[in-house]
Amino acid sequence: MKPRIWRFDNANSLYYALIDEIASAVRPILDSSRSPMMALPTGNTMIPFYRLAVESEERLGIRDWTCFNLDEYHPLPSGDTPYSFRSYLEQHFYSRLIHPPRHRMELDGTAPDPKEECARYEHEIRTRGGIDLALLGIGTNGHIAFNEPGSAFDSRTRLVHLHPDTLLANFKGAPPVTSALTLGIGTLLEARKIVIVAMGKSKSQAVRSAISDPIHPSVPASALQNHPDVTWMLDQESSDRL
Ligand code: GLP
Repeated sequence: MKPRIWRFDNANSLYYALIDEIASAVRPILDSSRSPMMALPTGNTMIPFYRLAVESEERLGIRDWTCFNLDEYHPLPSGDTPYSFRSYLEQHFYSRLIHPPRHRMELDGTAPDPKEECARYEHEIRTRGGIDLALLGIGTNGHIAFNEPGSAFDSRTRLVHLHPDTLLANFKGAPPVTSALTLGIGTLLEARKIVIVAMGKSKSQAVRSAISDPIHPSVPASALQNHPDVTWMLDQESSDRL
């Protein structure tokens, strides 16, 4: 299945096009008075996107969204943890909106029983009708959400150990946590639409392997080749090996 591949000369035009893409994906859902089910990523790549989304909150109908965090570190101490993905979304997105989304779902990094927490999350997704749009970034090792190389393509939401490359990319010093809860690749592939964004040279090999090389579990993002509605949004640097 051929993905759409959009390349942009500069970051600004990519993020504006991303807002347009999301606006046109959610419009028919909003028009049918249903809540768009959105899976939302973290990461540096997405910070400018959230800034723009906040400016466009009315147009995107964000107040009517149901949002699912893609992943979360585990175990987290109770209380506010600055590096948690919950804090990230609060800081960059939810707290800046005039009308935050009515339904916000997150994987609870403080949950004592990760298995039970992941089953609860899958149940929430299923009973609410499945994810309409999964917005993804990509790790330098080709991970999507926190599905590291070697993850099964039919994996569900679960506890995972993070790859040393990921820990290095996400934490400057000693990592305070080395595992996480993540939507599985199988869970992500059930989303009706997937939009994946990559920026910068450090992502170019992962982008190439994911799009142009044969599908292989060593590159989790290559699983997207099995999905019928994937849009890659890339800057020049991340796409220069395609
Ligand atoms: C993180 C997240 C991913 C994200 C990726 C890229 O660890 N788990 O969902 O897509 O790594 O992050 P960045 O945009 O900072 O490169």
